[in-house]
Amino acid sequence: MSKTFYLTTPIYYINSVPHLGHAYTTIVADAMARYHRLAGDRVWLLTGTDEHGDKIAQAAAKAGVSPQALADQNSAAFRDAWRRLGTTQDDFIRTTEARHRTVVQAILQKLWDAGEIYLGKYGGHYCYGCERFYTEKEIVDGKCPDHQTPLTFIEEENYFFKMSKYQGWLIDYITARPDLIRPERYRNEILGFLRDPLQDLSISRPKRRLTWGIPLPFDDQYVTYVWFDALINYFSALGWPDGERFHTFWPVVQHVIGKDILKPHAVYWPCMLKAAGLDIYQHLNVHGYWTLGGGKMSKSIGNVVEAFALSDKYGGDAFRYFVMREMTFGLDADFSEEAFVGRLNADLANDLGNLVARATTLIVNYQREAGPPADAGPEEAAIREAAATARGAVEAAMEEFAFQRALAALWEFIGAVNRYVDANQPWALAKDPAQRPRLDRVLVTLADTLRYLGVMLTAFLPDAATKIRAAIGHTAAPRLADAEIGGLDRLPAVQKLSGLFPRVDTKAAGGDQPAAATGGKAAQPSSPGGPAESAGPATINDFRRIDLRVAEVVAAEALPKSKKLLKLTVSLGQEQRTILAGIAQHYAPADLVGKKVVVVANLEPAKLMGLESQGMVLAGSTDDDGALAVLVLDRDLPAGAKVR
Ligand code: MSP
Repeated sequence: MSKTFYLTTPIYYINSVPHLGHAYTTIVADAMARYHRLAGDRVWLLTGTDEHGDKIAQAAAKAGVSPQALADQNSAAFRDAWRRLGTTQDDFIRTTEARHRTVVQAILQKLWDAGEIYLGKYGGHYCYGCERFYTEKEIVDGKCPDHQTPLTFIEEENYFFKMSKYQGWLIDYITARPDLIRPERYRNEILGFLRDPLQDLSISRPKRRLTWGIPLPFDDQYVTYVWFDALINYFSALGWPDGERFHTFWPVVQHVIGKDILKPHAVYWPCMLKAAGLDIYQHLNVHGYWTLGGGKMSKSIGNVVEAFALSDKYGGDAFRYFVMREMTFGLDADFSEEAFVGRLNADLANDLGNLVARATTLIVNYQREAGPPADAGPEEAAIREAAATARGAVEAAMEEFAFQRALAALWEFIGAVNRYVDANQPWALAKDPAQRPRLDRVLVTLADTLRYLGVMLTAFLPDAATKIRAAIGHTAAPRLADAEIGGLDRLPAVQKLSGLFPRVDTKAAGGDQPAAATGGKAAQPSSPGGPAESAGPATINDFRRIDLRVAEVVAAEALPKSKKLLKLTVSLGQEQRTILAGIAQHYAPADLVGKKVVVVANLEPAKLMGLESQGMVLAGSTDDDGALAVLVLDRDLPAGAKVR
């Protein structure tokens, strides 16, 4: 039975141009909406622009234009950006539209009539950048903790929403619903915040200070506080209070937001909804922050826009893949062109692109009109199993917005199919006429895996998925229910498809190394489906070049300036080495002393935090939740023993 699914992005401030942070939120929301459509659900995806408030008024004044003119121009820039990225929102709301203003005023009136709003006096330290007052506890050195700019003391009469009275209710509501706010770290953050008394929320700004807003319906000397106005977009766009759309989608609403706007969504918004008698959202899905080159990403830095332009340079699908694969949903991630090109070459050109090119070429070259293929054997059963496992993993991951896990699972499958081709060697089977039925079985299986990938990749790489489906003549609309292996028994008409993701020359791209080759820290898997960067499988000689040794940790200490690194002194028997290992978030120094670990002993020394690291400690880690474990020995061996 088909379900309904309603997802929103934040509405974007139009004082800035669309950048990578906005693009990420919109891309993941789009992928999720596409995935639910694939599953046969009835979907509504909403995005839009947030156009009122001080920020916008000030930006317009600076640009010498009216706020409305600025809003028109910049809202259009967001629409264009999403058109360029090919995202599939069903609606785009602007808070300056009449359909939104009337709903905001109706809600304000409703809360005013219900006694949920009062006029009060308030004196406090105000940040114009954040458009909010800060409490004494939040202020850092007399400055805004976010902008590091001086705060202005303002005393004025304002209207307040009685938010404090909902504190107990909100704590209970969140406590009873473990996945209301996810990932869990953000739920914990909010429950922590709610341990202190909750203040009432100032929901107005006097017109003498700010006119660019929605007038309060019960006092025209005030306009509405921009957050109170903005949040309401999520149901004003559905046509509250009536209409089929509102009744269909509101009960299943979910939001995607970045961690910087957690508090308005996790605290103000449920209280506002409760007071207005509306359902609370099902889930608040919170993602982390993108940094550029390790630094904080700021809207004023030009390269933010350049990062976004990488989608023009390397293609929209590659850009989508990179941001969804690289960022563990909920955690921060760093964006760089090198990392982008590394993944593009390894995962897209090498793993997926090669598979598609190989499979379509083999089918076109060897297919013929003939008898039935041989029965499926254990190899095909393994592929069928791998496909079912990957689909199950994608379904589970998408349930939790874990895009990186969904993609990792699909790339496991792609790796398995590449190995299937290597193991079955269709080119060798083709030389022996007696093997013809077996060859046909392999070719049919490859066509089937392409059909599967053409469906499963739809949400993540929509253009590539369409091309794959077209290459095997799959013209019907893709459906998740069809994503199984074993459905095909004859070869469809296939066209060769090569160059799906052309390899990027890393020198020409301006990067000297792909991301996967970063050295000097604990192992981080890069591409689950196959070799990260090399042209083919590693030879035994490649492996022999790496000198792996058993090492005993004789001392370990934290580095005061680094959150990630531990300084280890290890014994290799005859000699001692200093190794800086990026494991401080997983091990206390004392946990390691006395342990026998495995190190790469012939790694080029690297300078980290002013110290020389003379090797690398091996560790396993998962990309999705960042779990890490250092490799230790199963039984005792002397320090210095070779590992091979
Ligand atoms: N207008 C408010 C949202 C109101 S929703 C009722 C707003 N707008 S924003 O344009 O500043 O930010 C919109 C979204 O972009 C937020 O989810 C924010 O987290 C995201 N990003 C902005 N910069 C970002 C990064 N550097 N990295 C990841 N996402 C970030 O806030």
